[in-house]
Amino acid sequence: MRKKVGKFVSIEGGEGAGKSTQAKKLAAALKKCGIDCLVTREPGGSKGAEEIRKLLVEGKPGRWDALTETLLFFAARHDHVENTIKPALAEGTWIICDRFADSTYAYQGAGGGLDRETVRRIESVAIRDFKPDLTLILDQPVEIGLERANARAGKETRFEQFGTAFHEKMRAGFLDIAKRARERCVVIDATGSEADVAEKVFAAVAARFGIK
Ligand code: TMP
Repeated sequence: MRKKVGKFVSIEGGEGAGKSTQAKKLAAALKKCGIDCLVTREPGGSKGAEEIRKLLVEGKPGRWDALTETLLFFAARHDHVENTIKPALAEGTWIICDRFADSTYAYQGAGGGLDRETVRRIESVAIRDFKPDLTLILDQPVEIGLERANARAGKETRFEQFGTAFHEKMRAGFLDIAKRARERCVVIDATGSEADVAEKVFAAVAARFGIK
């Protein structure tokens, strides 16, 4: 395997947490510090994975069960890691990824009821021990996030329709991941303004990687 030279940062959180906006703002701030970044997303981020994305985020909520979803998310993730993430890191480009494997533990695991060990075994086949260097979890109350997400138009609403109880379990799942992996994860309060959250996001990245 080619050597990883760039840093891999994932941004996680529930619906409407502002991850995509924060990913772009973080990349812009890092570029100002002379760091070359690629913003990418999951599910998606490579040609094949974007095709799988459609199967997952469109259509009726009950279209797949949690195990099938997990297999599809990791199929997309394998393609994304091999074709986009690893080649960029090997060239020294930093990756800012809007969601990664923690989303599967939180949504299909905590939310959808699939046990951790099953998710871990599928993860280990699909991507081995490939993990972000830093994971920022944007946290906010479920109702605020769903309100923001519902205000967006589009076809990609499958998970938004899962109901509040699912989303509460998923939020608790992310906070549990942060406790289990303290060395990798930082929880960021996402209820402030875009600018406030961007400041906290950049501060967390700068502190972790020693950027002045
Ligand atoms: P997005 O809205 O952040 O682009 O993500 C698409 C949806 O897919 C979102 O509702 C969360 C869901 N999702 C999972 O359920 N499991 C996963 O592993 C990932 C990456 C996303």
